This record gives sequence, structure tokens and C-alpha cells, in this order.
Amino acid sequence: MSQTPTLHDRYPELGRGNIPIGPYIDPAFYELEKKYLFKKTWLHVGRVEEIPKTGDYFVREIAACDASIIVCRDRSKQVRAFHNVCSHRLNRVAYEPAGTTRKFFCKFHGWAYDLDGSLTGVPSEKHFMDFDKKCNGLTPVSVDTWNGFIFINLDPNPSVSLKDFMEPMFAGMEGYPFERFTACFAWNTVVNCNWKVALDAFQETYHVAYLHGRSIADSLDLDEEGILHPIDALCGEYHRRLSIAGNPNTVYGNPQAGTDASSASSVVSQQQETGRQIAKKALKVSAGGTKLDFSDVVLPELLNWTKAPNWAFDINVVFPDFYLSCRPNYFQAYNFRPVAHNKTLFEVRVYYPEMKTAGGRFYQEYMKTALRDVLLEDLSTLETTQTAAETGAKSEMIIQDFELMVRHQAVVVDRIIEEGLRRDSQLQAAE
Ligand code: FES
Ligand SMILES: [Fe+2]
Repeated sequence: MSQTPTLHDRYPELGRGNIPIGPYIDPAFYELEKKYLFKKTWLHVGRVEEIPKTGDYFVREIAACDASIIVCRDRSKQVRAFHNVCSHRLNRVAYEPAGTTRKFFCKFHGWAYDLDGSLTGVPSEKHFMDFDKKCNGLTPVSVDTWNGFIFINLDPNPSVSLKDFMEPMFAGMEGYPFERFTACFAWNTVVNCNWKVALDAFQETYHVAYLHGRSIADSLDLDEEGILHPIDALCGEYHRRLSIAGNPNTVYGNPQAGTDASSASSVVSQQQETGRQIAKKALKVSAGGTKLDFSDVVLPELLNWTKAPNWAFDINVVFPDFYLSCRPNYFQAYNFRPVAHNKTLFEVRVYYPEMKTAGGRFYQEYMKTALRDVLLEDLSTLETTQTAAETGAKSEMIIQDFELMVRHQAVVVDRIIEEGLRRDSQLQAAE
């Protein structure tokens, strides 16, 4: 059988063998992931625009870290993160998923905490013994930002800074206009599958021709067999990237739709395509609809790093569970948060430019509906895959060249668990 494993050839260290199923179905492996991976790694939790003003906050339940985390903007405009745990008898201090407040109040006995986490109010304080308010604030959590994305780390002393974690693969993202995509919509759902099963469905192109055959397959640049070849893939120590080619004659595959006043409509006037009239209309009326100007944006070279003329978008997977797909005209930020070994909270956020014209709004509504259909297709296989994996009928998965990122994820997770176990056994031996 002829083989052209162009992507795998560049990463011989990742191997070529089958991928064992155990890590996708074994509750004990999930416990190891929690301990050595999720509780030790930077995790994306939201964007700075969600908490623009002093007192704004949101709460994230991070099941893989057994934690409820408050992220807020303090009086000096700094972003802070704390465990949502009262210092007195451990009740919660934030009760809404998001809001604005002057202080965090515990509803049990009324302790009050300032936005920097310091304990400021204790009813009947004189009846506490050997007690110092100054030492009993909320427990801080490591927090930092990268290009407006907020990350937390449950390790009080992270082994690597967020900057050093991100830079090896994403330093060149500087200049991407994240802050101009101010219109956001979000969907959340819990899927009954392992977090890696879910993320895998979003980091390979092999499935596009089949699973998305009736929806977006024609928006992407397929070969004569109808298969979507990635333009290129990059695998780092943790993160990975995939570059995807599109068909600019379609609204979904045109990277200029919406943000470029002329090119989308000129594409429409040139094309001969007769099908998908509504999609065609959406592409046409999108032109020049944005409220903010995008004409001065120079996209970072990192985006289309091969400079392919038919490039449409990048898939970036920020290890472990953050999927960031950047396009010239919008970006998608998804999280695949583990809830259990066979349960994943799938958080979808899509950021578009705010539109000032009816045509622009129509384009956005079209894109939203198209994405809904695509995501439902993507989610349609996940629960049956998990159930099938748990039958034990198969002990391994077979990986094709365009599924290199699936392999990379399995290898990196495995490496981190092994490193953690080795560290622990060395510590035990030294005791
Ligand atoms: S548990 Fe919070 S004030 Fe008592
Ligand atoms: Fe898909």
C-alpha cells in the first residue's frame, strides 16, 4: 500500500504505532491526569474583557482541579484569582457565575473579603482566639494573562511562567487583533466522553469530508478524493498547531468575509457557483459591515506560517484543553474541560467584530447557524465512541498522517504522567 506520511516524517519522536485506549477510559488514569497535569498546568479561563471594571468577577468550576475559582478585577485594576472558599468554615464566598461586587461576602457567618482577597470584616471578631485577620484572606491562585486571555494555575509555585509556557510556540501571535473582536456568543454543553476524545475530534482534518460532507466540506480545500489535507502541522513540547486551506468562494471558507470591504464581494461577483444561495448572500452582504476598522491590521506572520495562498485558518491547541482557532475575520475559543473520566464540559466561545450594518448582522447570524450545525456533527460521534471504547472490543486506535495532532496529544499526556510518577517515586526513595 502506498504511503505518503508527510507530517509524521517531521516528528519521528512521536512514533507511528497505534494509540492505546486505556488513557481514554480508565478512571485511574484520569486521577493521574488531575494530579500531574491539570493541577500543575496553566489553564485558560476567560478573557480580560469579561471583567473590565473594578469589582467585576466570574467563577469557574474546574472539576479536574477539584476547585471553584474566582477571577476578579481588584481596585488597582489587576486581575486576581482566588479559591472560592471562605477562611472560616469553608463555605463559598461567590455564588453567581459572574457579576460585579464591592466585596465577597460569605453567607454563612458574614465574613467579608476585599477584591484583593484580604479579610476585612469578621462579625463578633473579639470572640475569636489568637486570631489575626491579616493572615486569613482568601487563598490566592496563580493567575496571568496572554494576549488578553486569562490563565490560572493551581500550582502555587508554577514550574514555568505563563510567558515561558506560551512563547515557544505562540510568541509570534503578538499583533493579532483579539481586542477588536468584541461581539461574542457562547454555548456550553456536557458531553459524555473523555476530554481527549472530544478534543481529538477538533484537531484532525481526516473527518471533514465525511462527517461534514453536507455542511462545510465544500468551504475547505479538498483534494481529488475529497479529503482535506492540512497545509502543515507543528508539534511542540506541549502545544500544537494545524494550518487549514479554504475555498474563498464560500462564506465559511473565506477569511476576508466581514472584515475586508472589497474582497469578499469581488469573490462573489467572480464565482460561478450556483448552489447555497443563502450562504452566497451572507458572503456578499458581509462586506464592510464591521463597526471597528480592520484595514490597518497586519496579521502576524505566525498565523499563516507557510504563506499558503489558499490558507483559511489555524487551529491552535494550547495544552492541555484550550482550542483557539484564529482567522483574519473572527476567532473561536473552545475549552474541553474534564468533569470525570468519561464526561467533558465543552465550552464554545466565538468572537466576531461588532457589526454596524444589517448585512453584517445577517452574515454573523448565518455563521452562527452554520457553526451550530457543524458542532452538532462534531459532537455526534463522541458519546458512541466513548461507549464503544469502554466495551473493550478494541485496545488501540489506528492513526492516519492527518491525525498527527491526535498522536501528539496522546504522547504529551503520557509523557507528563510518566514524569510525575517518576518524580514522586524519586521523592519517596529519598525519604
Ligand atoms: S464559613 Fe464563611 S463566615 Fe463562616
Ligand atoms: Fe469537525
